[in-house]
Amino acid sequence: MGPLGPSEAVRGIDIELYRGETLGIVGESGCGKSLTALALSGLLPDGVRISRGQISILGEVATEYDEALWRRVRGRSVALIFQDPMAMLNPVLTIGAQICEAIQAHKTIRWSDARREAVSLLGRVRLPDPQRIVDCYPHQLSGGMAQRVAIAIAIANRPDILIADEPTTALDATVQIEILALLKDIQRETGMAILIVSHDLELIARWADRVLVMYAGKAVEVRSARDILTKASHPYTLALIASRPRRRLNYGRRQRLEEIPGRVPLPSERLSGCGFAERCAVADDECKSNAPDGHQIEDGTVWCHHAIGCEAIAQ
Ligand SMILES: Nc1ncnc2c1ncn2[C@@H]1O[C@H](COP(=O)(O)OP(=O)(O)OP(=O)(O)O)[C@@H](O)[C@H]1O
Ligand code: SF4
Ligand SMILES: [Mg+2]
Repeated sequence: MGPLGPSEAVRGIDIELYRGETLGIVGESGCGKSLTALALSGLLPDGVRISRGQISILGEVATEYDEALWRRVRGRSVALIFQDPMAMLNPVLTIGAQICEAIQAHKTIRWSDARREAVSLLGRVRLPDPQRIVDCYPHQLSGGMAQRVAIAIAIANRPDILIADEPTTALDATVQIEILALLKDIQRETGMAILIVSHDLELIARWADRVLVMYAGKAVEVRSARDILTKASHPYTLALIASRPRRRLNYGRRQRLEEIPGRVPLPSERLSGCGFAERCAVADDECKSNAPDGHQIEDGTVWCHHAIGCEAIAQ
């Protein structure tokens, strides 16, 4: 605790996730996306805790879960995959052993049966030659293959919710699409909800059903993914859209991201008004002194004093 009191990286956010849907969380680096994802899976780092607000999973309040309860919930109700699948895998155990361990953590099953399930899971995540991969070690896999293994472990116990924090950021474009398509297929088969975190608004617009745009630890706009690129109305979302890397027609590569001038407030900064006021072209005195409440829009909510009609002013 510093002289200003505790830092607030996530400043109050309500997330509703429906069965079978994909919710995307987007925002710049340091907005609190990963901490939100970790909070939803009981994996907050040491020294970080939930000081207010509530997490409920399938109707049960999870905020008060102890570590033992989280261990039972994690994997069975909520599973996670991360940007770096290698970090999730144990380098000295075979892929098969790691999948078997995940299966046995939640049900009593003979090792030989768990191994058969492991091979079947490797097939479900479309790894070629699952009988061979099951005996491989992580270092024998490419990044894309390792992410498929991480997905196999994540879905081993048929979770209701899969949290994916930047699951494809480290992969090349073709593998990215394959992994996202795989997640969608598994979702169609199992009905699991997916919460996907990314800094790439275009990716979220394409792959999610709804988008939650996050800034300085808060939701600033929630709406359907279909409309996010054309109907966004929060000045921060509009700035993100304007800063999207554009594909160069002649090279097919993405150009550098145009940066939004200014920086995301630090968790230690006290915010008396709207967190985006320092960087917002249409901020006024009210924005600097009062945090905006949510306004219902056609298919979601926008937290901005000038949400109605601000598309026109902010562009
Ligand atoms: N263990 C921690 N202890 C204290 N502060 C932390 C901790 N982890 C993250 N933070 C701070 O919380 C804020 C939000 O971090 P978070 O990792 O959630 O951001 P993010 O939106 O996921 O960013 P990125 O896109 O870079 O992954 C940052 O200012 C970060 O420095
Ligand atoms: S509340 Fe004010 S400062 Fe914040 S985004 Fe809206 S117009 Fe900008
Ligand atoms: Mg992150």
